[in-house]
Order: sequence, then structure tokens, then C-alpha cells
Amino acid sequence: MTTLTAAPLAALLDRLFTEAEANRPDFSDVPEAEITRLMHSKTDYLALYTRLKDFPLPVSRETGRLLYLLARSSRATCIVEFGTSFGLSTLHLAAALRDNGGGHLISSEFEPSKVQRAREHLSAGGLSDLVDIRVGDALQTLAHDLPERIDLVLLDGAKALYPQILGLLESRLKPGALIVADNADHSPEYLEKVRAANGGYLSLPFAEDVELSMRLA
Ligand SMILES: C[S@@+](CC[C@H](N)C(=O)[O-])C[C@H]1O[C@@H](n2cnc3c(N)ncnc32)[C@H](O)[C@@H]1O
Repeated sequence: MTTLTAAPLAALLDRLFTEAEANRPDFSDVPEAEITRLMHSKTDYLALYTRLKDFPLPVSRETGRLLYLLARSSRATCIVEFGTSFGLSTLHLAAALRDNGGGHLISSEFEPSKVQRAREHLSAGGLSDLVDIRVGDALQTLAHDLPERIDLVLLDGAKALYPQILGLLESRLKPGALIVADNADHSPEYLEKVRAANGGYLSLPFAEDVELSMRLA
């Protein structure tokens, strides 16, 4: 048994994913071009995610398992996450830290009501001691007091900010550090950065909606 597949976390995750599947935002009245504009915007993300504050918007169940698997197999002990929401990805990453023997996860979320829910879920999963959620815009909260060495990063906040957020963390990434970027196709600038020849990363699209990258040196 692992923390991920045992009580209390397995049942908690199943319940949270089921609730999230029943509570998806309805964009049917928003023109496709407007959705694309908002997803790609570097300035309207606060308005967009404030509108979405009651929706969990989690990674998929598969991406959750991928996060656990990558954090376990790389023996990560120091993880940074951009975009906590209700904490479903956070629970997977914290479970991996627990099963790796301990560690530290810094997560970031600007919506206080979401932070409160994520903290409740971490408490219910018995994982609060491993996670520090920084409340505020990650452009500020992840700009200081970073650990010396980061083993794994999840990018899952405003897509247009991925290059800037990675830039904040870059000098702390250990050689071999993994970066998982969810729905990175909404950030062409990010894909250009991590896929650039001699850009310092090895990167590939993985499964349906993830860009998986590794810091080379
Ligand atoms: C897709 S959801 C994250 C889902 C979460 N990773 C999970 O799997 O449960 C994106 C979250 O990022 C937050 N967010 C977006 N831009 C942010 C920013 N600049 N700083 C902090 N949080 C941000 C949003 O409020 C939203 O809750």
C-alpha cells in the first residue's frame, strides 16, 4: 500500500474528483475566440480565475497519478506548485513526499477561499505537515524565499504566466529536475522556451494535455 492508495487519501481523492467532474464551468455562452484570448492573456488572468473561484478545475485523474509517479521515481523531496485550487494535485504530490520519507511542497494560490478548501483537504488527507500554501499572486509569492534546490515543479495556474514562473524558479532547479506543465498548449511562449535547442531543457508533449520537461544542468 502507498499513501495514495490507502485510507484516508484514496477515498478522499475519489470523492473530490467525482465532485469536480460534476462541477465544471459552463463556457457555452462564451465565444471560442474570447476563451482563447483569456487563456493566453498575461493581464486578465485575475479576472478569469476570480470568475472561476467556485470551480475546482483539477488536473485529470491520470495526471494526478503521473505527478505521484514522477515525484516518487525521482525521489523528490522539494516540490513547487503554481496553482493550488482545491488541492487535488497538491494531495498527489504531498502523498509522494510522504512515501519518499518526507519533504516540502510550496504551493501557490491567489484565491483565499480556495486556499481554505485546499487546507481542509490536506488536513483530511493527513498531509498538512508537508505543504506550505503561499496566498497571493505567484508572480510575487514565488519570487522570494525559495529552497536551495527544487526537484519537481507543477505549473497549473494562469497559462500565460508559465514562462515567467519558470523563470523565477530556474536558478534553483537541480540538474534532472522535472517540470510538469498542464495545458501548456495555451502558452506557446512556454513551449518555445522549454523546447528550444540548447535552451537547457529536454521536453516533450506527454499524454493529452501535459508538457513534461527536464532541466539539463
Ligand atoms: C487549473 S487550477 C489548479 C488546479 C490544481 N492544480 C489541481 O489539480 O487541483 C488553476 C488555479 O491557479 C490559480 N491561479 C491562477 N493564476 C494564479 C496566479 N498568478 N497566482 C496564484 N494562483 C493563480 C487559480 O485561482 C486556480 O485556482
